[in-house]
Amino acid sequence: MSTSYDQIAKEYQASKLLPWRTHIERYTLLKLTRGVAGMQVLDLACGEGYYTRLLRRLGAGPVTGVDLSQGMIDLARAQELADPLGVRYEAADARAIDSQPTNDLVFAAYLLNYAKDYDELLAMCHAIVRSMKPGGRFVTVNNHPSDPPENFETGRKYGYSKKLDGPLVEGAPIHWRFHLPEGTIEVTNYYLTPATMERAMTAAGLRNIRWHPAEVSPEGVEQWGAAHWRPFLDQPPIAFLDCTKEWAP
Ligand SMILES: C[S@@+](CC[C@H](N)C(=O)[O-])C[C@H]1O[C@@H](n2cnc3c(N)ncnc32)[C@H](O)[C@@H]1O
Repeated sequence: MSTSYDQIAKEYQASKLLPWRTHIERYTLLKLTRGVAGMQVLDLACGEGYYTRLLRRLGAGPVTGVDLSQGMIDLARAQELADPLGVRYEAADARAIDSQPTNDLVFAAYLLNYAKDYDELLAMCHAIVRSMKPGGRFVTVNNHPSDPPENFETGRKYGYSKKLDGPLVEGAPIHWRFHLPEGTIEVTNYYLTPATMERAMTAAGLRNIRWHPAEVSPEGVEQWGAAHWRPFLDQPPIAFLDCTKEWAP
């Protein structure tokens, strides 16, 4: 069953407080985005705007966040109202956005892993390419397609686990559970091989596709010790990649 983020918008927001989110997810993503000052940014699958706000605070602008879930967008807009940053939010399916090719950076934390097959992924990639300037960059993090099921319980010490119903085949649902002080929430991603991901990105016109290792922030090492992060870094549950839109011939 697909995830209804409308029902868990608040709890999902709380999951962003888990230390690995800050010290690995956020740290590695921001390293990959490099400087964003003055850049036009589109944050697809922005959720309640965690990265949308962060990118704006780092000097990006204009910044737009798009998410399928009205509940997530409501939460993002409530935060914009309470602390205005000038971010625009839109409730829409990323595949159907009517965007101009004006963004310097398209950012998507956990969008591609909602595609159940090559065609859905291709539609997402076409939308990404439609929204980017030639030479613009796409930075993303998703469920790691090479994380083996034997590793799915390793995350317990970090506050998450994953579950698979059957064999790890294309389109197989992967249930992520976040074990939070407020209780456990579950979101469902879908498995596609790295080859399928690269094929769809390339077919849509994305180039220089690079997979990046997860990295831990110096503060994370200082606070928790390097050994704490070793199992996560040795077999990361999430995969980072970036690529560029090809220049028109
Ligand atoms: C795991 S959350 C990540 C939210 C945010 N990027 C973050 O990192 O906090 C995944 C988000 O993807 C959104 N989503 C899933 N499929 C989508 C689609 N086709 N178009 C736009 N958003 C989508 C969901 O509504 C959900 O808010």
